[in-house]
Amino acid sequence: MPTDMSPMEKAKFAAAKRSVDFVTDGMKIGLGTGSTAAWMVRCLAERVREEGLKLTCVATSTRTAELARSLGLTVVTLDEAKWLDLTIDGADEFDSNLSLIKGGGAALLQEKIVATASDRMIVIADAAKRVAALGAFPLPVEVIPFGWSATARLIEETLAGQDVLGHEVTLRMDGDKPLRTDENNYILDLHLKRIGDPARLSLALNRIAGVVENGLFIDICDTVLVGHADGRVETTGANGQSGEARVDIAAPANIFSDLEG
Ligand code: A5P
Repeated sequence: MPTDMSPMEKAKFAAAKRSVDFVTDGMKIGLGTGSTAAWMVRCLAERVREEGLKLTCVATSTRTAELARSLGLTVVTLDEAKWLDLTIDGADEFDSNLSLIKGGGAALLQEKIVATASDRMIVIADAAKRVAALGAFPLPVEVIPFGWSATARLIEETLAGQDVLGHEVTLRMDGDKPLRTDENNYILDLHLKRIGDPARLSLALNRIAGVVENGLFIDICDTVLVGHADGRVETTGANGQSGEARVDIAAPANIFSDLEG
């Protein structure tokens, strides 16, 4: 393992490494997006190399698909896989109901489609993602580029009737241009500070013309694995069950092969 890994990277790695224990031979697996999910992809590829598991993977973004293929994983489209046994993904925030904010990496649309086409979703995170109430992290909303500013105005009007503390809506940029998602859409970030009723907000946002999907994941996640820098991993299930495991965070050297150079 690189000696310069920060405590947070170690925590993400611990959660990622534990998550692949839930994968068994023959499974169809949804691969999330983000830095924690990238560790999971590396750990999964390691298991495939070491144990010869036969897995079929569906990626939630172009960058995850590229990483997975570069490590030798078999990646197909969701339409080819049809349905998945398990999706493992990161999150930007989660609360005690296992409701999530996702989309910090702009992949929320494919992430939600893949997660809801899975029998089970496991979220992997470091402890900083655990919150009492969602909303400190800006809520990403994927919108059609056509008329996006009118859509943003309708979102602002909708927020006025919602239990939220902030109302600012900003267009996510990539340098001096609007960021484009894998589906060629835009992302609006909603700076809400605190979301009192995530389910009601999610329904209201998705009713607005121009909104494709929002980053609230309600009743989708089954289990959250929270990693710690010392290798401890806390498990919390949607059914209220909790537990703790410990993983060896000294990773085999070849898990970092895609990071070299
Ligand atoms: C990607 O769009 C997001 O939903 C990510 O899952 C989320 O941003 C977590 O990313 P990190 O694992 O990099 O924190």
